[in-house]
Amino acid sequence: MNHSGNLPEQTRSIMFSPEHGQAGDHCPGTRLPRSGQANILRRVSHQVADTERIARSDHAGAIVWLTGLSGSGKSTLAMNLERKLFDVGFMVYVLDGDNLRHGLNSDLDFTPQSRRENVRRVGETAALFADAVFVCIAASISPHAMDRDLARSAAKGRPFFEFYLQAEIATCERRDPKGLYCLARNGLLRDFTGIDAPYDVPAAPDLVVDSADQTPEACMESSFDFLARRLRPVR
Ligand SMILES: Nc1ncnc2c1ncn2[C@@H]1O[C@H](COP(=O)(O)OP(=O)(O)O)[C@@H](O)[C@H]1O
Ligand SMILES: [Mg+2]
Repeated sequence: MNHSGNLPEQTRSIMFSPEHGQAGDHCPGTRLPRSGQANILRRVSHQVADTERIARSDHAGAIVWLTGLSGSGKSTLAMNLERKLFDVGFMVYVLDGDNLRHGLNSDLDFTPQSRRENVRRVGETAALFADAVFVCIAASISPHAMDRDLARSAAKGRPFFEFYLQAEIATCERRDPKGLYCLARNGLLRDFTGIDAPYDVPAAPDLVVDSADQTPEACMESSFDFLARRLRPVR
């Protein structure tokens, strides 16, 4: 706690015990309950309004969530789409699930709990990018519909488009650029989505991208066309 009585931002709640004296004894101006759990989280307001950010970018923030099996073409589409959107003037950034596992999510493994947390963090991070008026493309297997719905909720009403990269497991397995299907089929990799871990096919995706039968270029064009009609054009 600092001398002005403000509590550290990162402290969500504390256990306060009267044995340690009243807060006012030590920290004038800080009010806490006499005992028990005190929620001390406080939201601070930005001084830059959404409208100001939008005026500068000339488009609103949005999230494009790419879901599909490993090898279905999420990263390929994400990066091609990023290139195209950037070239026509959008502020755009890809959050690729594999890339994030080197940093933000490097402490997570592939247990069901960790996968859930992985998707939660991608969703929260994507929401921050959308707040900053970026078009954020999140590429993540995100196998559970419930977790994808949570990511949509994290967007708090900002445009959120779920794209399903539709490529059946046989196609993905044939591609197998990282050799992971081979490992999973031979029992050397457990809990692999589509083999021994489930994948919930999106019930009502905003766009189905046929990444089994369409070239990467065609997938990018259909995705771009979809978005261009929904994201405010720059010029
Ligand atoms: N539409 C497509 N048609 C054919 N091959 C594709 C297509 N999209 C991606 N690929 C290839 O499939 C492999 C997996 O693509 P990737 O984007 O890494 O998938 P993911 O990120 O979903 O695991 C790569 O070798 C990539 O070049
Ligand atoms: Mg990928």
